[in-house]
Amino acid sequence: MAKPVIALHELRAALPIPPLSGAAPAGPLADLRGRALRDLRISVTDRCNFRCTYCMPKDVFDADYPFLPHEALLTFEEIVRMARIFRGLGMEKVRLTGGEPLLRRGIDRLVAMLREALPGVDLTLTTNGSALKAQAKALAAAGLDRVTVSLDSLDEATFRAMNDADFPVGKVLEGIDAAAAAGLAPVKVNMVVKRGVNDGQVVDMARHFRGTGHIVRFIEFMDVGSTNGWRMDDVIPSAEVVRRISEHFPLEAAEAHYGGEVAQRWRYGDGAGEIGVISSVTRAFCASCTRARLSTDGQLYTCLFAQRGYDLKQLLRAGAADEAIAGAIGAIWQRRDDRYSEIRTAETARGRKVEMSFIGG
Ligand code: GTP
Ligand code: 5AD
Ligand code: SF4
Ligand code: SF4
Repeated sequence: MAKPVIALHELRAALPIPPLSGAAPAGPLADLRGRALRDLRISVTDRCNFRCTYCMPKDVFDADYPFLPHEALLTFEEIVRMARIFRGLGMEKVRLTGGEPLLRRGIDRLVAMLREALPGVDLTLTTNGSALKAQAKALAAAGLDRVTVSLDSLDEATFRAMNDADFPVGKVLEGIDAAAAAGLAPVKVNMVVKRGVNDGQVVDMARHFRGTGHIVRFIEFMDVGSTNGWRMDDVIPSAEVVRRISEHFPLEAAEAHYGGEVAQRWRYGDGAGEIGVISSVTRAFCASCTRARLSTDGQLYTCLFAQRGYDLKQLLRAGAADEAIAGAIGAIWQRRDDRYSEIRTAETARGRKVEMSFIGG
């Protein structure tokens, strides 16, 4: 893709906040498809020290790329206030994401603030693991419950090529060990599987983490954003991943932990633990999607593939009261009709590809 002349986030004009009824909705909040708002994914930075080819390709995210200026980011106080408001609307789980969330200075302080404000909420974080060895203890002490670490290959050359930052496998493995030692367990390990790039290492990945208590999740390569050159041919369907692993280590299907779980669980027949597969391309899970996303600059996205968000930060900084913000979120959620992955699957089956735009985070 040609390098854009302005930052991708500037291409996204915010959606208008729907007219408010003035109060937060009474009773349990549901969208147009009857889905509650249970998970909040908060992006705390749009920066990353990796340049994974499927996420932040180097030719776009280069040295001149205009990342968000500091004042555009939600402050920790604003994030905590938002999270409290979402909590009041039924949210039960917070996941901090990025970019790379551990690059946000003082992230353990944010975790401590969220822990104090939201006792009982599942508090987790998805990281590339590069700074986890240094930060795992502080994060656990601050009250983080668990972490998910992205690791696309155990093969040195393949991993370095995929992160495109020449980052070594060993340091991520040390980060995973440090997380487990700090009690951020079970550690989940996310591997995005791309045909012809790292699919040859699926079985190795399963073998390496069997019996460790860590849970590897194999993710179908998705058409997030518009810069990663996604093609259906590059997707390895999860059914094939399960088949390949089963040839070496027999697997049996396991029950979901909770309704709407993203990953389908498979257990090793010999008791060596479990894996998960995330099949957003071949088996979309929109019907049970209870996830809201808050972007680094404080916009609410109701779908990972949404083209635009709703500018909650503007409301916040204009001095809106908590009830008014809750009312706005409620009104947005009640109009939510997103099911991108389901529609994409239908389109792909007809040989057409839905156009996508950048969402970030
Ligand atoms: P836990 O089950 O609590 O560990 O959380 P999780 O599965 O939501 O964790 P994680 O953030 O690691 O999600 C795993 C991956 O699934 C993400 O990195 C995405 O690639 C994909 N994913 C998560 N949520 C969605 C979603 O709403 N839609 C789609 N299409 N993919 C998603
Ligand atoms: N397809 C599938 N997963 C992706 N991730 C990032 N981009 C994609 C994509 N195009 C995953 C990362 C990480 C999580 C935050 O999302 O590997 O585990
Ligand atoms: Fe960074 Fe994660 Fe994207 Fe890779 S997938 S570039 S580690 S944010
Ligand atoms: Fe939810 Fe959108 Fe993902 Fe479907 S594509 S599961 S609606 S975030």
